[in-house]
Amino acid sequence: MQNRDFSEALDAAITGNRLNRTVSKKLQRLLNKIFLEGPLRPLKNFANGSWLEHPLHPLLTDVPVGAWTVTILLYLAALLFGMNELGIAIALAMGLGILAALAAIATGFMDWMDVDPTELSIGFTHAVVNSFGTLLFIVAWALLFIAQWQVSVANFIPALVGYGVIAGGAYLGGTLVFRFGTMINRNAYRSGPKEFTPVVAFEDLADNKPTRFVVQGQPVLLVRHGQRVYAIGAVCSHYGAPLEQGTIHGSTIECPWHYSRFSLEDGSVKTGPATAPVPLYETDVKDDKIWIRVLRVAQTVSPH
Ligand code: FES
Repeated sequence: MQNRDFSEALDAAITGNRLNRTVSKKLQRLLNKIFLEGPLRPLKNFANGSWLEHPLHPLLTDVPVGAWTVTILLYLAALLFGMNELGIAIALAMGLGILAALAAIATGFMDWMDVDPTELSIGFTHAVVNSFGTLLFIVAWALLFIAQWQVSVANFIPALVGYGVIAGGAYLGGTLVFRFGTMINRNAYRSGPKEFTPVVAFEDLADNKPTRFVVQGQPVLLVRHGQRVYAIGAVCSHYGAPLEQGTIHGSTIECPWHYSRFSLEDGSVKTGPATAPVPLYETDVKDDKIWIRVLRVAQTVSPH
């Protein structure tokens, strides 16, 4: 097959590596065993950022990138202009970057354990490259410490190489999000119906059974509890699982894939790993039919 650009050629080389595929599959299985099925699941959900309504990993990755950019600039100032007193400032910036990078690696693995097979190898390579870059900064910090904060080319080189490695890791992170759509809200582009639209006869909707309908091209989940009808998006915002295959727990529905729970009342996330709510629809029963119209798509309240 013809590769169209550098990024696609790189993706093909990574995903085509059998060792990478085997190791990443085994590691993903292991992490799922430890964090998805056991008592550590709340820890995973915390690391996913559901409590923040935003993935935690990309927030944390900004810190080392910024801190290590400052590190390199201070190193250059110290080495080019003989400002050796900058050693402590360099150690502080580099140390902050290392701590944030360790947290970013941990949260990244908690996101990665849910990815689809196509994203597995690239995500694993992204993690390995960034872990190696972090290791180089740890080496640089240790050398600076041993030198009693005296800046030298010897402790600058590992930091400089680490900075280049991290840039490569960041490129793969961008590929994951912008090419593969990893961790994006699967309902980001939903819309409508803006006017009340009939969906199904009230009597034809089974009680307490999540049922999927396509209304004006939008996948909608209806759940009837007695006389009350809930309507939310039928696609899990996390990785797109069909919520009609989920399980009802009171006024929430649990996703069949990674067990996020969404409120039937307002579509909000009650339990992660999802961080974005699902669309919400207003319901009405008229002429023995259930009618719906959109109330909220993604995070925005529809003006209808
Ligand atoms: S697809 Fe992952 S929680 Fe629903």
